[in-house]
Amino acid sequence: MVQPAPRGMRGHVRPPGDKAISHRFALLAALADGRSDIRGYSTGGDCASTVRCLRALGVTIEETGRDASGLQLSITGRGLGGLQAPNGVLDAGNSGTTMRMLAGILSAHPFSTTVTGDDSLQRRPMRRVIVPLERMGARIGSQDGRPPLSIQGTASIQPIEFSPEVASAQVKTAVLLAGLHANGTTTVHEPLATRDHTERALHAFGVRVEARGRSVSVQGGQRLAACRLDVPGDISSAAFWMVAAAALDGSEIEIASVGVNPTRTGIIDVLRRMGAEVSIEGGDSNAGEPVGTIRVRHGQLGSTEIEPGDVPGVIDELPVLGALATHGGELRVTGAQELRVKESDRISALADGLRRMGADIDELPDGFHVRGARRLRGGEVDARNDHRLAMAFAVAALGASGPTMIHDAGAAAVSYPEFFAVLESLRA
Ligand code: S3P
Repeated sequence: MVQPAPRGMRGHVRPPGDKAISHRFALLAALADGRSDIRGYSTGGDCASTVRCLRALGVTIEETGRDASGLQLSITGRGLGGLQAPNGVLDAGNSGTTMRMLAGILSAHPFSTTVTGDDSLQRRPMRRVIVPLERMGARIGSQDGRPPLSIQGTASIQPIEFSPEVASAQVKTAVLLAGLHANGTTTVHEPLATRDHTERALHAFGVRVEARGRSVSVQGGQRLAACRLDVPGDISSAAFWMVAAAALDGSEIEIASVGVNPTRTGIIDVLRRMGAEVSIEGGDSNAGEPVGTIRVRHGQLGSTEIEPGDVPGVIDELPVLGALATHGGELRVTGAQELRVKESDRISALADGLRRMGADIDELPDGFHVRGARRLRGGEVDARNDHRLAMAFAVAALGASGPTMIHDAGAAAVSYPEFFAVLESLRA
């Protein structure tokens, strides 16, 4: 149950380690020569799924500590192409990132593996990775393009030049990671630029990656050198507090040590366009990822649009931006059909939940349109086991006139187990 926050939200937060970067550091450390030490590894369930799968593939991973930034992991790599065949089925849980990126790596190992996941993951589209990885020489069985995947990898994976139809960093990464094991150069030409964490992480492990415009290439056979890495705070988790501060009168929140990679900061532009005051200070960099402190203060909300070209830069923040527009102003999002194949159909589930709370929202085939003139009353909503929806509904609920009951709120633990405790600590 989330109660309204009539006095707004104030305080200082350090978000959990970035989920997307944590996955990549763990996967690359597993392929490296030597022992890598990672600090600030995400405490969420998805990144635990990556660790579980890597351990089943023979990688030694020790949890050596935990602090405010997240977990400390020590990972002893098995070297390029050195993973071991697992004894049973690999379980990626709720994590599409784990399944798609691992599929790239397993395609280049000469054994067969089955990778499955929970009910939500079993509904998600995998053809986008199956097609290029089969072109490279792997054989991948699926249930009509959906998990479980049975991957028959090969030691002689072939390099390719690939132009995916969807702009997806997961697809780009799966192909590049397979290509890292090939003899020759693999290139991905993206339809729209997506997050570049894989390219930066490869560089941190000593691999040369060439990026030109929306194309990225890697020469296979380069060995990865183990290293020490700090994971920046997750801007997609910080987004909930940024929106809460922007939306609620009297609010101001400071978020420290957060990743501000320009391929992820679309939310800052949208908040500014809608009228919030946002400042960024920093310039630090960890493992090639820029890190800063973000301060957000409430402002009168106006209207804006998120167009197709903006979508990759805010893909995971769209549900909470929908919640933002219930507090005032107006937001129209188009070109975001990918939301329909995330952990839930986020367009229909968001529209349904916000409407139940009293919002004026239209569902579009590839987005949504929220008009915030009407104050929410609260109510009962279903997060459909989707972490970002559970947290987006909670942020919407803060501005309602009455309480909101969120079913499946526990899903937040997939990326942000501490979310509801932090929410209570920020009430002014
Ligand atoms: C991710 C990329 C995005 C994002 C997901 C994590 C990543 O998915 O929605 O939460 O770590 O690369 P797509 O690449 O499929 O758009």
